[in-house]
Amino acid sequence: MEALEINKLDKMFGKLHALKKVSLNIHKGEIFGLLGPNGAGKSTLIKIMSGSMVYEGGELKIFGKKIDKNVIGVTPQENSFYEELTVWENLVFFAHMYGVEGSKITKRMEKLVKSLNLEDKTNVRAKFLSGGMKRRLSIGCSLVHNPRMLILDEPTVGLDPDARQALWKIVNDMNEQGMTILITTHYMDEADSLCDRIAIMNQGRVIAVGEPSNLRDLVGEDVIEFRTSPGKEINKIAKFAEIIPSVSGVRKLPHYIEVRTKHSEKVLPKLIRHAEELKEEVIGVNIRKSTLEDVFMALTVGEKEKPVLKESKDKLSKTKEEKE
Ligand SMILES: Nc1ncnc2c1ncn2[C@@H]1O[C@H](COP(=O)(O)OP(=O)(O)OP(=O)(O)O)[C@@H](O)[C@H]1O
Ligand SMILES: [Mg+2]
Repeated sequence: MEALEINKLDKMFGKLHALKKVSLNIHKGEIFGLLGPNGAGKSTLIKIMSGSMVYEGGELKIFGKKIDKNVIGVTPQENSFYEELTVWENLVFFAHMYGVEGSKITKRMEKLVKSLNLEDKTNVRAKFLSGGMKRRLSIGCSLVHNPRMLILDEPTVGLDPDARQALWKIVNDMNEQGMTILITTHYMDEADSLCDRIAIMNQGRVIAVGEPSNLRDLVGEDVIEFRTSPGKEINKIAKFAEIIPSVSGVRKLPHYIEVRTKHSEKVLPKLIRHAEELKEEVIGVNIRKSTLEDVFMALTVGEKEKPVLKESKDKLSKTKEEKE
């Protein structure tokens, strides 16, 4: 039995097709990452999983059953606790909402504030917490009923590196206790180091699923970071790179360009020669293996509809449509 089975889920907002036959399985005990650009449909999917949004078609099962609020805990993208209540009051309020009663509450809350590192803030009103503490309280509110699955919608947004690390630790600890975790994030390093498997969504579709390393292999290219002395000529070099046949993508950054290719040994000399012709000084070249961010960019940027890549037996393979 899977922790979560989603089969051909469809969601419309008026004429906007927000989820287009989304199918996805999340295994029990894994940390699963959901990535995708703004508006891809991640939060919509999470709202449906949490039972707070209706959908038009398809099927969704959580631990083999229909949506059950008691087996999942959801930390929404926007903090959803009560600003005027203290940390402790918020946790107790949410515990009551989930039907956790009596003597169990105090013990569970004490454990929770400890693991969230909010022990010395229990009597502080939520509105006086720092951003990172608020995110932790928000997670706490979704853990009060000890759910089997925790769903976190961008839990680390706006946090400093220390607070992010602290949150990762909470997520890892919960996972070690057997909790299945679904997390959405825009931080590629986070997804790479935290998640067992990842799905990339774009425009309401799941376009790739796999382990981070498998997803990286999918792109299987080198990335040439090519830096010249600051000036406008870098745009000309980018345009030149775009028409080299073995180049699959060029990304312009403020001070350098990134050129994706399977043949860096052929492409790099061409770039250098072109820079020389333009009388541009090459001040830095770095060739690196693709990261998850490159995979994300390759799959989601540029074309409107990319081919769908599905996972088979934990390995990525191209779907039938794409082979044809
Ligand atoms: N309640 C709603 N009514 C109408 N349109 C909506 C509603 N909720 C979401 N949408 C639209 O559905 C699409 C998907 O939105 P969603 O919030 O799921 O994206 P997301 O992947 O979570 O993006 P982000 O990374 O910015 O949080 C967007 O085009 C959004 O405007
Ligand atoms: Mg969202």
